[in-house]
Amino acid sequence: MPKNLQETVKLNNGVNMPWFGLGVYKAQEGEEVIQAVKSAIRTGYRSIDTAAAYNNEEGVGQAVREAMEENGLTRDQLFITSKVWNSNQGYETTLQAFETSLSKLNLDYIDLFLVHWPVKGKYKDTYRALEKVYKEGKVRAIGVSNFQIHHLEDLLADAEVVPAVNQVELHPQLTQKELLKYATEKGIFLEAWSPLGQGNLLTNDILVSIGKKYGKSAAQVILRWDLQVGVITIPKSVNEGRIIENADIFDFELSTEDIAAIDGLNLNKRFGSDPDNFNF
Ligand code: A2P
Repeated sequence: MPKNLQETVKLNNGVNMPWFGLGVYKAQEGEEVIQAVKSAIRTGYRSIDTAAAYNNEEGVGQAVREAMEENGLTRDQLFITSKVWNSNQGYETTLQAFETSLSKLNLDYIDLFLVHWPVKGKYKDTYRALEKVYKEGKVRAIGVSNFQIHHLEDLLADAEVVPAVNQVELHPQLTQKELLKYATEKGIFLEAWSPLGQGNLLTNDILVSIGKKYGKSAAQVILRWDLQVGVITIPKSVNEGRIIENADIFDFELSTEDIAAIDGLNLNKRFGSDPDNFNF
């Protein structure tokens, strides 16, 4: 169990990735994303999750460079994730999209690069391009996002490099237990996007009442649950107070009963799109 924000998991290729990071989906390019990333790094976050589709890679890169300078950090102390967007899927187009992400971020390398969605008929070619940039040393680890078990089975039938991570929607109403078991067996870490259910779970009575026992908010209960069930988590916030609150989860431990109660909230409910039925 990680004891602080900097603690890492060892991915299947030996690379260390922080258990906890900042998500920046919907953080606006420019001042908003720059301030959020800088607040997070000042707070002790070491992992930032962006994507080409978020249209904020330039701000993320600028904030990372400024924060390194201001906090006396070196590039290897930070972990930056980005993702190739659906319209760029395919082998050659992904190679180009990777270079575009790298140049927008204006970093020497990306730590983790993911196939954002399993676009039918394309995700295998997309992943082959990720394997190429991985072998060239331009990215430290590669993986996927929004992959169901059948997508992973299909990918693994041909992949040379087992994905290090599968980033999926995961929260107390979508606990993803089968996928978690399958991924763990294959050496793939699950990473939770929208761990707070896009903010929808924060007034849930059970989560609030569990939080009261520990002097914690529902958000903190959910994020602690992620770590205790072995899932990497990247809550999004652009508000400094909430960025600090979300990370303040290393001084308590949910009991086995409380973990079971949270697991029991599962409804297989998605707030985001269904990976088997999306049209973007
Ligand atoms: P904001 O960026 O204004 O803080 P998720 O990561 O599940 O998608 O949730 C993100 C949403 O939840 C955002 O709307 C974010 O808004 C909000 N949020 C993040 N952390 C907290 C918190 N600790 N308390 C309340 N709302 C939060």
